Amino acid sequence: MTALAEKGFEPQILAFCCKYCAYAAGDLAGSMRLNYPVNVKIIQVPCTGRVDMLHLLRAIEEGADGVYVAGCLEGECHFLEGNLKTKKKVAAVRKLLAEAGIEPERVRMFNLSSAMGPRFAEIATEMTETIRQLGPTPITSVGRCSAAAIMEEEK
Ligand code: FES
Repeated sequence: MTALAEKGFEPQILAFCCKYCAYAAGDLAGSMRLNYPVNVKIIQVPCTGRVDMLHLLRAIEEGADGVYVAGCLEGECHFLEGNLKTKKKVAAVRKLLAEAGIEPERVRMFNLSSAMGPRFAEIATEMTETIRQLGPTPITSVGRCSAAAIMEEEK
């Protein structure tokens, strides 16, 4: 654990969630009254295929401590291969971060179904713990993550 983590660092994490699976699983987690960290701010997307490398990089640039994409199970994307394409984008972003000296673990991809409410909560907890261990993003000059700012750029 880093010194900063010991000082009560609370990560800010952005999650791009496909409405058909991860977002619905998040709803289910809520209905099941499962707790998950408030550190995770969710952006609903029609399919993870809609998430571009620039969205992930921009989130990191804007100061997110971690970002993840949660999509349908492989082979079950409603747009056929959106999740598979984004899996490659996430891998490419992780590689870019590593080359820039930023921990690639800050960006991840998960797959789950709409029935996996407990898994949704588990992922949010797992990501929060991972980022808490890593400490704050090394990119601090720009400011902190704002889901609203990221979404504003979509308009
Ligand atoms: Fe869920 Fe494509 S529709 S990842």
